[in-house]
Amino acid sequence: MAKKNVRPSAAATTPKVQSPPAELRYADELAVMREADTAARPEGWKLSPTSVVDFICGSDGEKVGARKSDALVISEKFVGPRDIVQRCVVTLAGERGLMLVGEPGTAKSMLGELLAAAISGSGGLAVQGTAGTTEDQIRYGWNYAMLLDRGPTPLALVPSPVMQAMRRGSIVRFEEITRCLPEVQDALISILSERRMMIPELDDEDSSLFAAPGFSLVATANLRDRGVSEMSAALKRRFNFETIAPISDAQRECQLVASRAATMLSETGGDQAIDQALVELLVTVFRDLRSGRTDEGWQVNRPSTVMSTAEAVAVATAIMRESVFFPSGFDPVSRMPGHLLGVVLKDDEKDRERLLTYWDGPVQRRAKSGGQLWKRLAEARGVLEDA
Ligand SMILES: Nc1ncnc2c1ncn2[C@@H]1O[C@H](COP(=O)(O)OP(=O)(O)OP(=O)(O)O)[C@@H](O)[C@H]1O
Ligand SMILES: [Mg+2]
Repeated sequence: MAKKNVRPSAAATTPKVQSPPAELRYADELAVMREADTAARPEGWKLSPTSVVDFICGSDGEKVGARKSDALVISEKFVGPRDIVQRCVVTLAGERGLMLVGEPGTAKSMLGELLAAAISGSGGLAVQGTAGTTEDQIRYGWNYAMLLDRGPTPLALVPSPVMQAMRRGSIVRFEEITRCLPEVQDALISILSERRMMIPELDDEDSSLFAAPGFSLVATANLRDRGVSEMSAALKRRFNFETIAPISDAQRECQLVASRAATMLSETGGDQAIDQALVELLVTVFRDLRSGRTDEGWQVNRPSTVMSTAEAVAVATAIMRESVFFPSGFDPVSRMPGHLLGVVLKDDEKDRERLLTYWDGPVQRRAKSGGQLWKRLAEARGVLEDA
């Protein structure tokens, strides 16, 4: 009997984890794309540049696959201009690193992970930048027991994710690079320009590591953290910068919030339908507070915290989850101010007043002009004062 040519779904074969990495979450899409992709690609890449962009931005409803039986529509993962993603791909095939900068919660890390998963098959090689990051975490450290026993041999060396990526010829991610001290960041200069890491402790033949084809680096930097301006000019020159802005289109932001909230709920065992009207209300509030201006042209006093899409997803998910845990008499709209306060009120008590001013202005006006949901939202104003 002919063998059935159907690939078991990756989701069915991998153990459950809380937040699967991109290569697991989208394993089926990646497998189908790899099989169907016959176009030329840079050395060391798992997909061609066009397929990498399609994987991240979606295939626009078109099915992709070498065989009809397991062809798939590739989902849109990053909501944003396709040409930004295209430029990111071009940078990674070249001799510079890629630096994604922007406000918090604009999907910089997600984009970096998707690029690494598509190009190298995994986004797992990553350095998390903190004020305590040391050069060892960028270059290499030592297994001191072995070092004392055998001296500086390649076996005693503990490679950093950057070193592993150079060996494998893959993408390494550097999260929140500007949180590291500038002199620590500078360890990357020679790695990016010469694509080589010197290991002077080892014998001559092992003392330089040359990056394999496919190696490159994606860094992210948050504009609210210590500035990109503090990076050395020499390091800046080794990166191409891409600024990632919040989603410009309100409708696309609503769709994203609804679909991400549904995914997050299903990953934690919930399967309730997302209330579309609630999402629209929530996203409108977020967009007004983020931009400082409503669609009607009214001025809004912006809070000091960032009203990112990521936070909107978190609030939508929390409200839906609350409706499952505490269903009795649940009104999602009246729960919104409490959750919103949790986002807004982080370190400046004046942000509560800003939120109240927003309630007394745009929320009231929309309630008065007949918006039922806005009316319920206006009625819940007391939560903002009490919480
Ligand atoms: N343009 C977008 N496309 C898709 N998802 C988005 C977009 N903007 C925000 N998100 C949502 O925001 C979540 C968080 O994004 P991510 O953590 O990558 O942001 P970030 O820019 O790295 O934030 P931070 O600066 O705080 O590290 C994503 O998982 C996604 O749900
Ligand atoms: Mg991030």
